[in-house]
Amino acid sequence: MVDLNRLIAGFSERYGSKPRLFSAPGRVNIIGEHTDYNDGFVLPMAIDRRTFVAIAPRNDRIVRVASVIVNDATEFKIDQPRELSLHTWAKYIAGVAWTLESRITLRGADILIDSEVPIGGGLSSSAALEVATGTALMAMAGATIEPEQLALAAQKAEHDFVGAKVGIMDQFAATFGRKDHALLIDCRSLKTKQIPLRNLNAAIVVCNTNVKHQLMSSAYNQRRAECEQGVELLRQCLPGIRALRDVSVADFGKYENELPDLVRRRCRHVVTENDRTLRAAQALQDGERELLGSLMRQSHESLRSDYEVSCRELDLMVEIASRQEGVFGARMTGGGFGGSTINIVRADELNSFTQTVAGEYRGATKINPDIYVVEADDGAREDSDNLIS
Ligand code: GLA
Repeated sequence: MVDLNRLIAGFSERYGSKPRLFSAPGRVNIIGEHTDYNDGFVLPMAIDRRTFVAIAPRNDRIVRVASVIVNDATEFKIDQPRELSLHTWAKYIAGVAWTLESRITLRGADILIDSEVPIGGGLSSSAALEVATGTALMAMAGATIEPEQLALAAQKAEHDFVGAKVGIMDQFAATFGRKDHALLIDCRSLKTKQIPLRNLNAAIVVCNTNVKHQLMSSAYNQRRAECEQGVELLRQCLPGIRALRDVSVADFGKYENELPDLVRRRCRHVVTENDRTLRAAQALQDGERELLGSLMRQSHESLRSDYEVSCRELDLMVEIASRQEGVFGARMTGGGFGGSTINIVRADELNSFTQTVAGEYRGATKINPDIYVVEADDGAREDSDNLIS
């Protein structure tokens, strides 16, 4: 966990001034994977692992950024954010500055970053970084935009500066997350519904496989293109559709044979996952743990065999977890190709779950996993008041 007073001290040492502090959370997705860019539904929650941004304004238009996590520092000009060959982590920040600058006039700033969200862990460290720095830069400028616009600006930064054509789930979770709640997002209307987690009466456990396969970015954009191809083809039978969100499970069953096998499987995942997500949101609301767990199991299977974004380590982690006492459901979470699984576990089985899953996973892969309980937390906020001054 980040020691905030140390972060502040590190900031003052580096820049010689006193900062304000902002943060945004990582997220874990309960269900609704690869549905967001198909205008569908997702059910993530913001988690109590956050990215912190210590920041002080400057009187020019330069942003100096340093990161404790990657032990690196660089700078860019607000007016020419693309000028430098920035390292990827700094591109997220330059991208957010650039998108915000089209709406408000920013000030230069000195920034120091630290984070509790593991990079490449499938818990959306990038959205946490974007939304936290966006919030901090707005505060320095003494201006605000609607939270929804901030989330969209963060997504645009990722599209235009990093080249990942991501959906809106992660930036929305980092912005609108709420303590003790999961967030159902309609990724077409951008309407959200907070669903209390108290009825679940079980722990939400993240198991990080600690592998990250390099495929992620290109495979992600490829999946997106395959879905778009599916929509084009299905439109011949279902002329009204704009996205896979518009295709019901029943209609898909009628017309799936019109599609080539690969596109058919990609679309089948999205269409069925949308349906599962809505049912899971209801199950969560009603505290129906068995039903939620079974939908999560189906989700993983669909991601593994139809969407093909899982990997050996994720499958293994899910398989080991599913065999344990008191586990309602387990599945990969996030984009895939490594990263983490999410598990719903009865509280009295937590210790044995953690020990057995870690031991078996380590035995089979020689990799140490990270396994921990997460709580739902609030979205982006200022944390300056929590500091001992
Ligand atoms: C990544 C993207 C999200 C979403 C997930 C898959 O996390 O950033 O927009 O598409 O993958 O559900």
